[in-house]
Amino acid sequence: MQRTLEPELMEDEAQCLVYAKADFEEENQGFVDRFREYYPDLTEGHVLDLGCGPADIPIRFVRSLPGCRVTGVDASPAMIRLAEEAVRKAGLADRIMLRCERVQTLVLPEPADAAISNSLLHHLPNPLQFWHGLRKLLRPGASVLVMDLLRPESPEEAQAIVDCYAADEPAVLRRDFYHSLLAAFTEDEVAAQLAELNLSRLLIDVPDDRHWVVGGRLL
Ligand SMILES: C[S@@+](CC[C@H](N)C(=O)[O-])C[C@H]1O[C@@H](n2cnc3c(N)ncnc32)[C@H](O)[C@@H]1O
Repeated sequence: MQRTLEPELMEDEAQCLVYAKADFEEENQGFVDRFREYYPDLTEGHVLDLGCGPADIPIRFVRSLPGCRVTGVDASPAMIRLAEEAVRKAGLADRIMLRCERVQTLVLPEPADAAISNSLLHHLPNPLQFWHGLRKLLRPGASVLVMDLLRPESPEEAQAIVDCYAADEPAVLRRDFYHSLLAAFTEDEVAAQLAELNLSRLLIDVPDDRHWVVGGRLL
C-alpha cells in the first residue's frame, strides 16, 4: 500500500482535546522507560521533544529523570495551549519549555544533549527534513529515541489494527489513528531515510505489530 499523507499539524481544537484526554499511559510511559533503558547514563541535560503534542511525554520524562529539562516543540497553537496548561498543572514550568514552531525551521541557541519524538514523523511530507534537523539541533554523541507507527500492508489491515487497539476510543481518535497508519512509514523506508542521511549509528527496531523505534547516538 502506498503512503497517504494526512494533514501535517493537528490544529483543530476538538481534535486536540480528544487527543489530550486519551489514555496513552502505556505507550507514553513505555517510551520514557525505553529511553532510560537505552541511555542509563543520561541523567541530566537538555532534551528536545519534537512534536510534543499535549506534553504528556515531557511531563513523564522530567518526572522520571529529575536532572533533565525538556524543550517541547509543536507547531499547532491549539496543542501548545493544552501542553502549557498540563505543564502548569503539573508544576513543571521551570523544567519544561514549550515552543510553538515547526521542527523543520527550529533553531536553538545551543545544541541539545538528546532528542525524543513519538508519533511525529508520519505527519511530515518530507521525513528527510526531520532526520537532517537532528544533526543541526543536537551535539555530537547526543542520544536519540524516535518512535512512530508502521504502515500496514492494506487499508483493511489498518482498520483491523484500529479495531483491535482502539475499539472503545472516541470516533475522532479512531479516525485519526486510521489515517495515521496510512500516512506512516514502513521499516524499510525508515532504514532508507537513515542511510540516505548517513545516520548509520541510528538503528531501527520493530517492537510490536504497529510501531518502529529508532535509537542510537549521533556521530
Ligand atoms: C500524533 S501527535 C503526537 C504528540 C506526542 N508526541 C505524543 O506522543 O503524544 C503529533 C504532533 O506533531 C505535531 N506536528 C506535526 N507536524 C509538525 C511539525 N512540522 N513541527 C512541529 N510539530 C508538528 C502535531 O501538531 C501534533 O501535535
